[in-house]
Amino acid sequence: MKHSKPWPFPLGEEKWNAPYFLAPVAGYSDAAFRAVCTEFGAALCYTEMVSAEALIRGHSKTRELLVRDPVEKQYAVQLFGSNPETLAKATEIVSAYNPIVIDLNCGCPVPKIIKAGAGSALLKTPERIGEIIRAMRNATSVPISVKLRTGWDQNSINYPETSSAAIEAGACAITLHGRTRAQGYSGKSDWNAIRSLAEQTTVPVFGSGDVFSAQDAIDMRRTTGCDGVMIARGALGNPFIFSELKALAGQTAAEHSDEQLSPRIIARTAACHLELAIKYLGERTACIEFRKHFCAYTKGFAGGAGLRAQAVHCATFKEYEALFKEFGTIAGSPTLSGSSF
Ligand SMILES: Cc1cc2nc3c(=O)[nH]c(=O)nc-3n(C[C@H](O)[C@H](O)[C@H](O)COP(=O)(O)O)c2cc1C
Repeated sequence: MKHSKPWPFPLGEEKWNAPYFLAPVAGYSDAAFRAVCTEFGAALCYTEMVSAEALIRGHSKTRELLVRDPVEKQYAVQLFGSNPETLAKATEIVSAYNPIVIDLNCGCPVPKIIKAGAGSALLKTPERIGEIIRAMRNATSVPISVKLRTGWDQNSINYPETSSAAIEAGACAITLHGRTRAQGYSGKSDWNAIRSLAEQTTVPVFGSGDVFSAQDAIDMRRTTGCDGVMIARGALGNPFIFSELKALAGQTAAEHSDEQLSPRIIARTAACHLELAIKYLGERTACIEFRKHFCAYTKGFAGGAGLRAQAVHCATFKEYEALFKEFGTIAGSPTLSGSSF
């Protein structure tokens, strides 16, 4: 792997030796899940995308998205919006939480977000991305990064232009999800695009898309030369991907053989995760929100389907406890890679 950029790469004051991050994942990457991923070895975790507009209006639920668990020595906050002034004000608010980096979302494909000119709508106007990043930079001393898709659709692949606009405006790093807005989460992430960007830019490039196992993350770095790997769906129900990566760092990939994760360890981790979520959200909300995490933790296990059917009725820790116990003793075999959320 060739690195023409400084390594370990700097991001703000920090130097990042471990290049495997938890990506922003709306509805999943809250303080509790980020804490679990941090404990398992994620070098940096991103908040889910936070509305700049809602933040400056003082929306209390939006502010809650910025809460950081004590185990998170550092974290990154992602903002979305379309107006440079609004994003500048939101950047000021977020800076008080001391993130290592503030990221601008230019990838969200959700129609409601696009209609407001935010997320991947920004891909259509690289100069707007530059304007927003300049405004955000002027509002803070925290480094500003950007997360892009390759383009709006197959006929308008423009990541070289959008990333240049971001870098010229002072972005400290670029994440490239190798899909277009039109692809959503279907098809394949174009790792060639990630490689091409990593070769051509002077700032750190993080790759995103189709990393479902520790080996995938290592392959992405090896084949694209990207500086960091953002893991999204591959970490859901599988924070162990980060500990596997840590283990692999001490070995060659060829020597590594995937250890079978026992249902007991997964159940214990899920229980700790839920306890933390309750600390932040209160029991009822946490238990309802946790249903999707429970599905992710038990995905691919024989016997998991019956437990998932019961989890949709769980509203207390005690109710989950019975399921964790049952799950911990089932002997199904895990297939943690190849997730298809
Ligand atoms: C449920 C879900 C929510 C997501 N939320 C965000 C988000 O808030 N901000 C963002 O930049 N990307 C978001 N993404 C995109 C991921 O960060 C990532 O770029 C994409 O899923 C590809 O990576 P993967 O193949 O590892 O999942 C989301 C993806 C999913 C599946």
